[in-house]
Amino acid sequence: MSVHSEIKKITTETLRNMKFSKERITMLTAYDFTTAKMVDAGGVDAILVGDSAANVMAGHETTLPITLDQMIYHTQCVVRGVERALVVADLPFGTYQSNPEKALESAVRMMKEGGAHAIKIEGGEEIADSIKKIVNAGIPVMGHLGLTPQSIYQFGSYKVRAKEDAEAEKLIADAKLLEELGCFSLVLEKIPAILAKKVTESISIPTIGIGAGADCDGQVLVYHDMVGMNKGFKPKFLRQYLDLYTEITGAVAQYVADVKTADFPNEKESY
Ligand code: KIV
Repeated sequence: MSVHSEIKKITTETLRNMKFSKERITMLTAYDFTTAKMVDAGGVDAILVGDSAANVMAGHETTLPITLDQMIYHTQCVVRGVERALVVADLPFGTYQSNPEKALESAVRMMKEGGAHAIKIEGGEEIADSIKKIVNAGIPVMGHLGLTPQSIYQFGSYKVRAKEDAEAEKLIADAKLLEELGCFSLVLEKIPAILAKKVTESISIPTIGIGAGADCDGQVLVYHDMVGMNKGFKPKFLRQYLDLYTEITGAVAQYVADVKTADFPNEKESY
């Protein structure tokens, strides 16, 4: 039996069952082959090819500029590095909001060309018809409510969402609707912990939180933030496990010094 056939792949059903058995779900982002391999080897249940690639890979200020072709490229790279985790890919801004046909076309491209196992889209009631169309085509959909970065110009800031009753009530109604429409899971971003708990308890699909407290069924972080590559980005919700910015710049500085002083390469490092 090959090593590959021994690995039990995570599916959307696995995540649903984890909610029922109260096993927390872990998700991290990845955008390239090498990182995806490490993140998968570390044992996460799901890898998100997030449109945060626009920020951490391409240096854009918002997630809006990244294109479907670029997201498909990142997804292809990630899928090649993953043996176990469920790979969920974001549909980028402008590829699903205008009409359900376009949404389905974008989702199909992401599955067919990108090799994703599921797609994620931002929003509630406004995109219900698109979600229905994609789900009906047999494509698993992860929802995303709360702070939805593709709407940043409408929000005006990255502050915590749904602190007021009206927005909180809409969020709960949207979460229930996403479940009804057939979403298999739901990201809750930057909302009060008490609201995330209420949503988590009122739906049967798993919630995955980022800045949404401890009572979600799982947690997601942007890889570059949790390993400390994104210098200076330290929101309250982030736990930084490494300080790779310092480690890497230190290593580069040492390499520069070694070459300048002719310490590298030495005899052992030469043919
Ligand atoms: O694009 C992304 O990284 C995301 C997460 C923040 C959930 O959507």
